Amino acid sequence: MNGPFSRLRCIGCGRDYPLGEIRHECDACSGLLEVAHDFDRLKNERDGADWRRLFDSRMDGTAGPHRSGVWRYHELVLPDLPAGQIVSMPEGNTNLYRSKQLEEISRTRDVRIKHEGENPTLSFKDRGMTAGVSWAHHVGAREVACASTGDTSAAMAAYAARVEGMRGVVVLPKGKVSMEQLSQPIASGCLTISLPADFDVCIRLLRDVCRRLSICLLNSVNPVRIEGQKSIAYETAQQLDWDPPDWMVVPVGNAGNISAIGKGFSDLRTLGIIDRLPKLLGAQAEAAAPLARAHGEGYREHVRVKAKDTVATAIRIGDPVSYDKAVGAVRASGGAFISSSEQEIMDAKAMVDRTGVYVCPNSATAVAGFLKAREQGIIAPGERVVIVATAHGCKFSQATIDYHGGRLTGVSPRFANRVVEVAADIDAIERLLVSGAVAPPLGKDGE
Ligand code: F0G
Repeated sequence: MNGPFSRLRCIGCGRDYPLGEIRHECDACSGLLEVAHDFDRLKNERDGADWRRLFDSRMDGTAGPHRSGVWRYHELVLPDLPAGQIVSMPEGNTNLYRSKQLEEISRTRDVRIKHEGENPTLSFKDRGMTAGVSWAHHVGAREVACASTGDTSAAMAAYAARVEGMRGVVVLPKGKVSMEQLSQPIASGCLTISLPADFDVCIRLLRDVCRRLSICLLNSVNPVRIEGQKSIAYETAQQLDWDPPDWMVVPVGNAGNISAIGKGFSDLRTLGIIDRLPKLLGAQAEAAAPLARAHGEGYREHVRVKAKDTVATAIRIGDPVSYDKAVGAVRASGGAFISSSEQEIMDAKAMVDRTGVYVCPNSATAVAGFLKAREQGIIAPGERVVIVATAHGCKFSQATIDYHGGRLTGVSPRFANRVVEVAADIDAIERLLVSGAVAPPLGKDGE
């Protein structure tokens, strides 16, 4: 008889544990854990072409859990989870937009934006959370918790609310999440706790509380979250007809997502579904860039910083929990980490927003990182690039309004589209319209 497909394994010392146990670090060395599937069994079930056919057959008109852009790949996400235990909204199936504008500005052959802001709670976190909450539900957890810069908490709150009798607890850094993000766990009925501290302190405290009270922690240090998050890689590859891009550009905060994307592509190659791995570019804001600094210093030592204020509040993290996994994934791919200034981030955001693809400042950090990597020759003109936009612009309205209104400290908006106030009078409106007033064109400085 076959045992479970998956176990937990420490990425430091290799010790392993059953997946059924709720555990967030190795008992022996406190290292990060990962879910390890039995790939020999998966390979025996199907070859690469068979896996591709299976996933393609689920793309159209599929009912049930396979409609989700996470559970379409159920066998590679959590093979031991019975389909009946899945808690799905359904998430994923986000668009991959070709960006002619970015191709022209950066003189690059093929640039696309994977808009994860199109998920049910408007961020990529829904992919990891459907896995995290489903597994918590499966193992009988009644209480789930996370610390968050705003998006993890929104996702956890929504998924926990879908499970009868499951209580959610979120811990947020006071004044450091957007109003829209704050509204989400409140609306979903979570116990919403605000601490006068930054994210790095919030998560440290919550990890201890969860250990003491045996609460299921659903931050990305929980390896089951990473399994759902990997589906960004699967879905991107599938949307490109299983021909992966040369680069995946990802904004990095706590570093779970970039680790997951690296793991996802690596799974696909192990199973013969794709034949090469993209390089990973991790993008940070200068205000919170421990990994970009570590990259610049040749990864000589583990870098921790005190995060400063940034428009990219969701990645305002100085001590990323998944640091070791992210460094491993980026180095194995031949990629890099890079950082951008507030000005670069917000100008990049305005450029992408102008094309109708409305992204958040964190996503714009990836766009700015991409433009810089092109300038520095890290990315070559003939390469194919996918930039992951992690959340929707509507979650961060204030940053957009402040930029266009010229009210962001330290940023002079190159592409400002100011609100024009005129009298409530037909002639005044007509005069304005016939004057030919339009938003300033891209590529030139605004007024
Ligand atoms: N983009 C957005 C919109 C995010 O919310 C986050 C992380 C990231 C990028 C970075 O992803 O942490 O996996 O490297 N937000 C977490 C949260 C920290 O609590 O919502 P990461």
